[in-house]
Amino acid sequence: MQDILDEIVATIGASKERGKVADYIPQLACIDPNQFAITVALADGRVFSSGHSERLFSIQSISKVFTLTIALGKLGDAVWSRVGREPSGDPFNSIVQLEHENGKPRNPFINAGAIAIADAILKGHQPKETLGEILQFVRFIADDDSIGIDEKVAQSELVTGDRNASLAHFMASFGRMKNPVDWVLGTYFHHCSIAMNTEQLARSGLFLVDNGRNPVSGTRVVSALRARRINSLMLMCGHYDGSGEFAFRVGLPGKSGVGGGILAIAPGKASIAVWSPGLDEVGNSKLGTEALENLVQHTGWSIF
Ligand code: DON
Repeated sequence: MQDILDEIVATIGASKERGKVADYIPQLACIDPNQFAITVALADGRVFSSGHSERLFSIQSISKVFTLTIALGKLGDAVWSRVGREPSGDPFNSIVQLEHENGKPRNPFINAGAIAIADAILKGHQPKETLGEILQFVRFIADDDSIGIDEKVAQSELVTGDRNASLAHFMASFGRMKNPVDWVLGTYFHHCSIAMNTEQLARSGLFLVDNGRNPVSGTRVVSALRARRINSLMLMCGHYDGSGEFAFRVGLPGKSGVGGGILAIAPGKASIAVWSPGLDEVGNSKLGTEALENLVQHTGWSIF
């Protein structure tokens, strides 16, 4: 495995065509695109990394997997009255479907859906308390108490967050927000600003590798059924309007973020995290996707 990862770093990681870093969040616009890391956390507990795997990056939308998991824990199937579970086929920050679909986002991974999930988990509590809970959960699944929020990124999102504010207010106009919109947005921007490295991120996905149970510690995080459902949503919706392309090329449940990270799950085998800040046209890590495509060719881990 180490050989495969080192080769991916030496070839794909050194590519000249690196995509474009997200520039609509000023704090992400200044990230050096020449960084690249990959970590594979195997179900048997072994962890392999190559590249800049100790460097922290903004996990952005990957955090939506964790908030969905928390929401399912708190609300159970009532979550599905707040968000759907169909791919949107539209960009991650699109507003158009909301108008025709009664303000209900298509799935929990587009921005509108994740904002609705943030509202669902707030349950009248202060954003600080909810963020504490989200962080506690992420630290628990990654087995690492050092994970935190990059406050500069959160502030940067807040001051340039007009689109997300529009989505939230639009949903509120359908009577879909149970908490003040600024609380919901504050919670959403902060959980998107959680900073992790690929080692931490790969470990955090282990519970989705083994039917809801961390295969290394043996701790159960969610039921087997719930883990299967989270994986299916990642496969169908985890890369927004690039989800079909990701399934076609990689064939694994995956979730991307505009910080350039991708978490991919090979059920029964491994949790994989890649990071390369340059994005493709739809906002998914360009080299990260190529790296996963290559890894799956070497390992045969595609679920298809
Ligand atoms: O709300 C936003 O736009 C960002 N906090 C998250 C977007 C994101 O990561 C979409 N990813 N590909």
